[in-house]
Amino acid sequence: MSLPTQSPKKVFIKTWGCQMNVYDSQRMQDVVKPLGYAPAEDMADADLVIFNTCHIREKATDKLFSELGRVRPHQKTKAENGGRMIVAVAGCVAQAEGAEIQRRAPYVDMVFGPQTYHQLPEMIARVSRNTGAVLNTEFPPEPKFDHLPQDRANPGVTAFLSIQEGCDKFCTFCVVPYTRGAEYSRSVAAIIAEAENLVQNGAREIMLLGQNVNAFHGEGIDGQSWRLGRLIYRLAKISRLKRIRYMTSHPRDMDDELIAAHRDIPQLMPFLHLPVQSGSDSILQAMNRKHTADDYRSTIDKLRNAQPNMALSSDFIVGFPGETDEDFKATLDLVREITFAQSFSFKYSCRPGTPAAAMQNQIDEKLKDTRLLELQSILRTQQEKFNHSMIGRTLPVLFENPSGREGMLFGRSPYMQAVRVAGSPRLVGEELPATITDAGGNSLTGSLQLADAA
Ligand code: 5AD
Ligand code: SF4
Repeated sequence: MSLPTQSPKKVFIKTWGCQMNVYDSQRMQDVVKPLGYAPAEDMADADLVIFNTCHIREKATDKLFSELGRVRPHQKTKAENGGRMIVAVAGCVAQAEGAEIQRRAPYVDMVFGPQTYHQLPEMIARVSRNTGAVLNTEFPPEPKFDHLPQDRANPGVTAFLSIQEGCDKFCTFCVVPYTRGAEYSRSVAAIIAEAENLVQNGAREIMLLGQNVNAFHGEGIDGQSWRLGRLIYRLAKISRLKRIRYMTSHPRDMDDELIAAHRDIPQLMPFLHLPVQSGSDSILQAMNRKHTADDYRSTIDKLRNAQPNMALSSDFIVGFPGETDEDFKATLDLVREITFAQSFSFKYSCRPGTPAAAMQNQIDEKLKDTRLLELQSILRTQQEKFNHSMIGRTLPVLFENPSGREGMLFGRSPYMQAVRVAGSPRLVGEELPATITDAGGNSLTGSLQLADAA
């Protein structure tokens, strides 16, 4: 029998869902690093396996259990060899279904929600002492951000920075207010410190994250409450920070200062993900979205007046309870009128415990399928058209990493489009003009000026 695995230990994290989960997974990595955990390439080699889950639509729990089924043999093998693999379930499924996970998969050592992962060292210590499995789905009074490590080593060229979490909007279809908790904004000083650290460690673009990011209202350095617009004006002063983005926004919270920031700040990218969900006022009301279709139109007008290059992205839900053909047509009309550069569209998915789940007028799955196909075909055409309109133009591209093929680079345009060009790997982290030569549905091909490419 071999000896129990000694350090260096390894952690493997699998992440589902939104950018916030990607951020959380990176931060979990930061939290366990001082305990000697280095990232594992392969689940089988890990001493700590964390599944960071998403609960936004159905099937999340099925996916989790199938993944747990895959990890179990590795955990057994490790134990047979005298080692130990700690298996943890984190994120929103953990928050919503913690007890059920422990019942169905008793070999899971730790279950914790999105607000408690800063306590990972204590949880790991408890499990290692064999005092039983850990279930930690509290909403602690002290926010986790105050306890996370300050340093964000190796953030990459584009880094995520969580500035706000949770949601008080209570859209009737959505689990987020229950799994992530009440709306909470970090202080401006803490955000600036993290942003400066990211830039020092190589980040050139920061994506400010929040479930309802433009509801941000953190304590400013002048003691006043700052909203997102003012925060962006301040972050734009960080030298070497070339790009700022933010997501996900709510139409209700697009205030004038934020719109003005799009006019004034060249580092703020002219691309906005602003979910509308539906183009029908009666559905928007049943969804408790707190805005009408015309409110959305007028916000888009203001944004396009402030920044004529603005490209838009949105989320849509089809087949919300009670959605008539007319309601659905109103969504199609709004899409045709506004035109989106990119979008995400979903069939309404019934989430137990949310108000919409109890609505009587649920829509037949087949009808949802038909509507989704129709909507997606229009959205796809708009995206392709938008991408094709780039051919012949010269766009600034921020290079993130070498692309799969030798001698190629991967970067993004200001509009979030993936761009591939031939160029040297030393250009990673640089923003350079690329002339777009070809466009597909999901990416662009371009070429650098000869002097730049070498
Ligand atoms: N069913 C379908 N889509 C949903 N979303 C959130 N909850 C549901 C649900 N119950 C979508 C919304 C949201 C995106 C993140 O996921 O469009 O903006
Ligand atoms: Fe969910 Fe609505 Fe809050 Fe977005 S605004 S997280 S859809 S409740």
